[in-house]
Amino acid sequence: MLNLVKKLYDLDNNFSKGATQMVYQELKNRVAVVTGGSKGIGTAIATRFGQEGMKVVINYHSDQAGAEAAAQAVKDAGGEAAIVQADISDEAGAQKLLQTALDNFGDLDVWVNNAGMENQVATKDMTLENWQRVLNVNLTGVFLGTKVALNYFTSHDKPGNIINMSSVHEQIPWPTFAHYAASKGGVKLFTQTVAMEYAKQKIRVNAIGPGAINTPINAKKFADPEQLKTTTDMVPMGRIGEPSEVGAAAAWLASDESSYVTGITLFVDGGMTLYPSFQGGRG
Ligand code: BGC
Repeated sequence: MLNLVKKLYDLDNNFSKGATQMVYQELKNRVAVVTGGSKGIGTAIATRFGQEGMKVVINYHSDQAGAEAAAQAVKDAGGEAAIVQADISDEAGAQKLLQTALDNFGDLDVWVNNAGMENQVATKDMTLENWQRVLNVNLTGVFLGTKVALNYFTSHDKPGNIINMSSVHEQIPWPTFAHYAASKGGVKLFTQTVAMEYAKQKIRVNAIGPGAINTPINAKKFADPEQLKTTTDMVPMGRIGEPSEVGAAAAWLASDESSYVTGITLFVDGGMTLYPSFQGGRG
């Protein structure tokens, strides 16, 4: 059984473990803020930025040990790191992140609105508090972080780069996660709108849409072989993704290699958004 789980999990380990050395020379010494950097995709993005020689501010809400481990991973990878506790759904919290970047590294180049949360509840039973918590972190947090970054970039008349964490669920409806899907649908159109609004100022704004990724948010679900199979059956590539594969997408979007790209959602989902139920000509 364990073997089967392992196989479904990584299909013979046939995935990118992420770059082991710098890929985008121009990223060296650039300063990034990563919200929700203490675990999962946030840690993977921070670590990949470290490999690119970047200086990374890692924000955490409650997991200080996770943030410290992420900072160590950034340093081990060749970058510099600082950690900061803040609630990013609060205007002062977002401002504190910028201040940490300026105090430690003197500038800001890349802002990643990664922090997010989800919880499962039928819509008819969803409390207003359920709704507001998810919207506050996943959508209001993205707005506040973006606003702080935009103000910095425009007041210093410098190009900037903003990356928002969306999901396949900006496109795929997700029953019993209506607040989550609504927040990610919001992130999509927010990203496109802001990208258009600031394109002339050379501020690029993009989103990443991960599918099913091997992160703490999903740990319980994917530890159950049946649930894991249910999910991998929904992925044309037949496996769940690794956080480093999302980190690779973030590094590319942050780099000058994506210089003509703004307003997109880059799906990192093994094909989950491709209507997999039509596989083999069904339909
Ligand atoms: C969610 C995961 C889920 C995946 C695919 C992501 O946005 O965070 O929990 O497995 O979408 O449904």
